[in-house]
Amino acid sequence: MKLSNEPLITEEALRERIGALAEEISRDYANRKPVLLGVLKGAFHFVSDLARAMRCPVEIEFIRAASYAGTESTGQVRVELPISISLRGRDVILVEDILDTGRTASAIRAHLQSQGTASIALCTLLDKPSRRVVPVTAAYTGFSIDDHFVVGYGLDYNERYRELAAVYILQPEA
Ligand code: IMP
Ligand code: MG
Repeated sequence: MKLSNEPLITEEALRERIGALAEEISRDYANRKPVLLGVLKGAFHFVSDLARAMRCPVEIEFIRAASYAGTESTGQVRVELPISISLRGRDVILVEDILDTGRTASAIRAHLQSQGTASIALCTLLDKPSRRVVPVTAAYTGFSIDDHFVVGYGLDYNERYRELAAVYILQPEA
């Protein structure tokens, strides 16, 4: 597998779009203090950039969820919420790197609902709508993309490429 020569989404495009998302979310949550709940590890850059562009106060928490080995979803989702955080009565913005089959987001949403959250909105940097197996839609979407396997800006292939500042397509070697 190798990286596309050019990014699919450049650093500049990420910065611009994330700024616009932060504006929109800040307006929608103007008089509340939502929890930005990032899904590790893929959303770590996104949460950081989104949080710094927000205009309303937020709290930042992370959870872990894993479903993938290689480039294919296993269909099994494990959600790990630190027991030290309470989301009861809170407005939660679930921040994801990418929506693919929708299994992860839907499992996390169910888990959060069982914690007594006041509201849950999904904010995803990337969406691959053509891959959906479980019906999930995001309240906030950065970019809708075609069915490519992408890496960079937090997204990995077997733990590689998360450090890249832009999003690239991972292609089979010719
Ligand atoms: P879902 O449960 O199928 O929606 O998958 C969501 C998770 O799969 C994401 O949080 C990613 O960790 C991983 N994933 C899905 N598509 C890609 C991709 O194109 N590149 C890297 N990871 C991906
Ligand atoms: Mg992954």
